[in-house]
Amino acid sequence: MQAPLDIRGFKLFQGYLDPQAQAEILAAIQAVVAAAPLFSPMTPFGKPMSVRMTSAGNYGWFSDRRGYRYVTEHPSGTAWPPIPDSVLDVWRDVTELDRLPDCCLVNFYGPAAKMGLHQDRDEADFSWPVMSISLGDDGLFRIGNPTRGGKTEAVWLHSGDVVVMGGAARLTYHGLERIRQGSSRLLPDGGRINLTLRVVE
Ligand code: SIN
Ligand code: MN
Repeated sequence: MQAPLDIRGFKLFQGYLDPQAQAEILAAIQAVVAAAPLFSPMTPFGKPMSVRMTSAGNYGWFSDRRGYRYVTEHPSGTAWPPIPDSVLDVWRDVTELDRLPDCCLVNFYGPAAKMGLHQDRDEADFSWPVMSISLGDDGLFRIGNPTRGGKTEAVWLHSGDVVVMGGAARLTYHGLERIRQGSSRLLPDGGRINLTLRVVE
């Protein structure tokens, strides 16, 4: 494994997954989406998010007028499917932790989807990192500061990149500004998938 780039404490492992490993994880995620279809969560302000989502694991991330939280069931009322082994292997290898994540949030970005700057703070214990895997079209990932405001910087995430958000950077603001439509042929119909692995409890 190559030494990661350090961007404001975020560790970026560029090209961590080769094309075959990307295809294997994509197939596993397509099975997750077949069992737990993507949906557009409502923000607490009553607007649907442009990113479509689903989850795998004991918990899934959810949002509606009552706020952001983790729930144990997909909106259809069924349990979330298990996190694929191929995804857990990446977590084990990159984080070297014995503790496994209990949520794999699946974000799907179509051509116009984006995610504003935010902190990941719905988990119980911020000493565990959040790890992200990017698949498909490039995404412009913006990184801010541990508090709102201030100068930001952006980096293009490519298919196969892995980012670890941990340590002092665990609560750093981040978001996804836009995707570069058509920049990858991994997803048959285009778009970008980002998986984030989270220790919830
Ligand atoms: C997220 O912060 O949940 C998603 C980040 C990304 O899409 O790369
Ligand atoms: Mn996030």
